Amino acid sequence: MITINHVTKTFGKEKTAVRDAVWTVPDGKITGFIGPNGAGKTTSLKMITGVLKPDSGNILINGTDIVKEPLKAKKQFGFVSDTPDNFLRLKGIEYLNFMADAYEVPTEERSAFISTYSKRFGIEQSLGDKILSYSHGMRQKIMVMGALIHNPSVWILDEPMTGLDPQASHELKLMMKEHAASGKSVLFSTHVLEVAEKLCDNIVIIRKGEIKFLGTLEELKSRFAQDTSLENIFLELTGDGKDN
Ligand SMILES: Nc1ncnc2c1ncn2[C@@H]1O[C@H](COP(=O)(O)OP(=O)(O)OP(=O)(O)O)[C@@H](O)[C@H]1O
Ligand SMILES: [Mg+2]
Repeated sequence: MITINHVTKTFGKEKTAVRDAVWTVPDGKITGFIGPNGAGKTTSLKMITGVLKPDSGNILINGTDIVKEPLKAKKQFGFVSDTPDNFLRLKGIEYLNFMADAYEVPTEERSAFISTYSKRFGIEQSLGDKILSYSHGMRQKIMVMGALIHNPSVWILDEPMTGLDPQASHELKLMMKEHAASGKSVLFSTHVLEVAEKLCDNIVIIRKGEIKFLGTLEELKSRFAQDTSLENIFLELTGDGKDN
């Protein structure tokens, strides 16, 4: 569970990327975080994961404050950022072992994880190659594996389906569903409304740094009873789309 309490983040003197945001990510559900380009999704996810510090407000991961107790809070989640171009000089398997070491994952658990998920993503033949030689989608897959190898209860993913082929995207969606079904929480950002519509139990819509909607897909649709298209509802809530 994630609790976001009155969080604000301003860049420079006047660019308020997130303004007084109040929302939660419940356990046992997939929460989709939706908004146009520049709306404040990545900034929010970076504050939730302790990469950026809020100017005001606080964020609790399973009850632990990410700013006050970062180590304890960071053990609770796995974060897949929107840029999978990290650790390029490491081989895939070296990166996975590095992440497993960092989180003290026992040998047997990590081997089982690596074997299962590299097969699910179809990259078992590439684990011995440097990440530098991977395609964008392969980098995305290895970063997802690295983020989840310690079996965190909270999954946080920034545009995770970008660059994944249909098979891998299907696998990741299944993994997210399995994780939520086991009572844990999944938060992911997306632009793809069809994905949100099919996958999410819960929807959070952000526009120009402000939370515009927070609730279930059914609640969102019933609010706009005459219009059942999520795309139209989204366009209505987010204006003309672009924020910059
Ligand atoms: N480091 C930074 N310095 C200054 N402004 C920033 C910085 N990071 C983000 N911003 C601004 O904050 C706003 C929100 O950006 P953010 O990256 O959170 O949007 P987003 O919703 O993730 O967009 P996208 O869908 O394009 O990924 C934008 O106006 C952006 O220009
Ligand atoms: Mg972003």
